[in-house]
Amino acid sequence: MKKVLLLQCLFCLLCIVKATADPVVKIQTNAVELIYKVADDGRLYQCYLGKRLHHDSDIAYLPQGGEAYITHGMEDYFEPALHIVHNDKNPSTLLRYVNHTENAPEAGVKETVITLRDDQYPVTVKLHYVAYEQENIIKTFTEISHQEKKPVSLEKYASSMLHLNRSRYFLTEFSGDWASEVRATERELDFGKKVVDTKLGTRGNMFCSPFFQLAMDGKSRENEGEVLVGTLGWTGNFRFVFEVDNAGCLRVISGINPYASQYSLKPYDIFRTPDFYFTYSFDGKGEASRNFHNWARKYQVKDGDRSRMTLLNNWEATYFDFDEEKLIGLMDDAVTLGVDMFLLDDGWFGNKHPRSSDHQGLGDWTETQDKLPNGIGRLTHAAKEKGIKFGLWIEPEMVNPKSELYERHKDWVIHLPNRKEYYFRNQMVLDLSNPKVQDYVFGIVDGLMTKYPDIAFFKWDCNSPITNIYSAYLKENQTHLYIDYVRGLYKVLERVKAKYPKLPMMLCAGGGGRSDYEALKYFTEFWCSDNTDPVERLYIQWGFSQVFPSKVMCAHVTTWNSSSSVKFRTDVAMMCKLGFDIKLTDMNRDEVAYCREAVKNYNSLKGVVLDGDQYRLVSPYDGNHTSTMYVAKDKARAVLFAFDLFPRYAEKMQPVRLQGLEADRMYRVKETNLMPGTRSSLRGNEQLFSGEYLMNVGLQVFTGRKMNSRVIEVVAE
Ligand code: DGJ
Repeated sequence: MKKVLLLQCLFCLLCIVKATADPVVKIQTNAVELIYKVADDGRLYQCYLGKRLHHDSDIAYLPQGGEAYITHGMEDYFEPALHIVHNDKNPSTLLRYVNHTENAPEAGVKETVITLRDDQYPVTVKLHYVAYEQENIIKTFTEISHQEKKPVSLEKYASSMLHLNRSRYFLTEFSGDWASEVRATERELDFGKKVVDTKLGTRGNMFCSPFFQLAMDGKSRENEGEVLVGTLGWTGNFRFVFEVDNAGCLRVISGINPYASQYSLKPYDIFRTPDFYFTYSFDGKGEASRNFHNWARKYQVKDGDRSRMTLLNNWEATYFDFDEEKLIGLMDDAVTLGVDMFLLDDGWFGNKHPRSSDHQGLGDWTETQDKLPNGIGRLTHAAKEKGIKFGLWIEPEMVNPKSELYERHKDWVIHLPNRKEYYFRNQMVLDLSNPKVQDYVFGIVDGLMTKYPDIAFFKWDCNSPITNIYSAYLKENQTHLYIDYVRGLYKVLERVKAKYPKLPMMLCAGGGGRSDYEALKYFTEFWCSDNTDPVERLYIQWGFSQVFPSKVMCAHVTTWNSSSSVKFRTDVAMMCKLGFDIKLTDMNRDEVAYCREAVKNYNSLKGVVLDGDQYRLVSPYDGNHTSTMYVAKDKARAVLFAFDLFPRYAEKMQPVRLQGLEADRMYRVKETNLMPGTRSSLRGNEQLFSGEYLMNVGLQVFTGRKMNSRVIEVVAE
């Protein structure tokens, strides 16, 4: 008996020695670790994803786990990450580990590249991982290449595949439509597949957003529990596949949606997938969001470290009905409000087919003579005289069939040559896979900037998905269109950024139809939704804040839901990048005075709101009130926003416990953003509290009033 035991022990020991001798790849941030091991079959397996492990000797005990990047045609029966059809029509690929390299492109960032190769076909797959140590974000992407004689067909080509093995999985997705973006729904995943994807092409996330939250073992919570949050940087068709297999393990595959997108890859070319970014939090969704916010401002978003301009937009104030005089009048409103910029929206261009409605003119980027006889130059000049900046709306990827561009260049339009055209918002999409169209689109920005160098900002809109899918340029490679369109767009944006590096731009797609981290390399911010009803916005901003910092989320005060007060509308917008889209004549004197004061307050608070740590304290999904706070990095200052939506009569209300302060520091609490002539009724207003009190007892900030709001400054003394 003893002998058997001894032999068993020896065998185990040998296994361990053998296992540790096999290559191990560790991708680590300060808190998170992803570990791969090469097994005896020479293939790569993900054996761990979770809290960072600190004892190397433990690695030998980790179970083998799932194959890192599962390929089609071999022994796995579930969704593969990669599917290649080779020159001989063989559809299988088997990847074996070749080597891995590590380097540190900058302090706090570590890159690991694992090279895998097929032994039957000259196919190489490189899995890239970039770990942002402090922010606990891991970026992954894949490079696929081959040296077969002719092109191979890529049928599936994921950016990332992750394996999880837990008792239960809860997925939160963010879906909706125009004006109802990012509605969060959480559901338990059980055997089989749940797919979150889009086939819209340009206005890619009109129905669902390219990010998700995955809670382990139980439903997601704000401050507790393990949650993986992921998002894809791709301004086009994306797909997330969540598949629970026969063993109850979850596979998460993220990448471009391969729908109608087989890609023919030439020998020696590299197919580089978009980036998939994820974080893993052990303290709930709040921490995961802050990880993303910190990382985005530091590494990803254009001008992430710079401030943002407040603005007045004319869209809802005028729609298409304006002229030079009206616009210059609105600039005076901007000055009265004290904002930094006036933004001229849609409707300023087209002469043969003037843009008097959304039925015509798109594509003809010269000023409408009747409306603007002195051109944009008169407007930039007027803005300069008034001491504000001037911004301009464009929608350069699109065309109305009723336009000179369409008459001249139908070959540049994505359309089916033999079918009746289908229009979405009366327009069609230009074929950005065509380099000539790329030049044309770049030329719109470049032409305007050359002629009017005082343009200080662009709002870049995109109101139509890709319809009538066919490219005259791509000829036999029609299944490349969805991908080559997005690559073409990036080429244009790269040129704009290179030539005008300091030019801020807002990304917009008929509301929040485009919002992803690759686009945000080129855009300083995005328009979250055309729905500016402040009640709805509280949900929309809550949704986007799961992965995006307030700095990139534009929020404007408008007349939507005019049964709510101007103060309520403004207080909601002040939680993001503040703007107005309203005429001062829509407001009374007190409201205008209130807004002026609010802009001043915002200027003093925006360092905290845009660059601080966000704590979502009370969810609008949980009842009739909601509250969020922002804390400066040095914890010397914070601002708390509290909103009553539609409270019930005599409803029980709990104090709101603050977060992120220093327990032993003393903070003075002061309600701000008050309507002229009103006084704060906040209990404890202007009093000094310890951080400990504020975080454990809290403040009674909610009221029984409908659509009521409070903005409270918390300043250390
Ligand atoms: C859709 C945008 O979301 C709006 O803000 C506005 O710019 C219109 N397009 C203009 O057509």
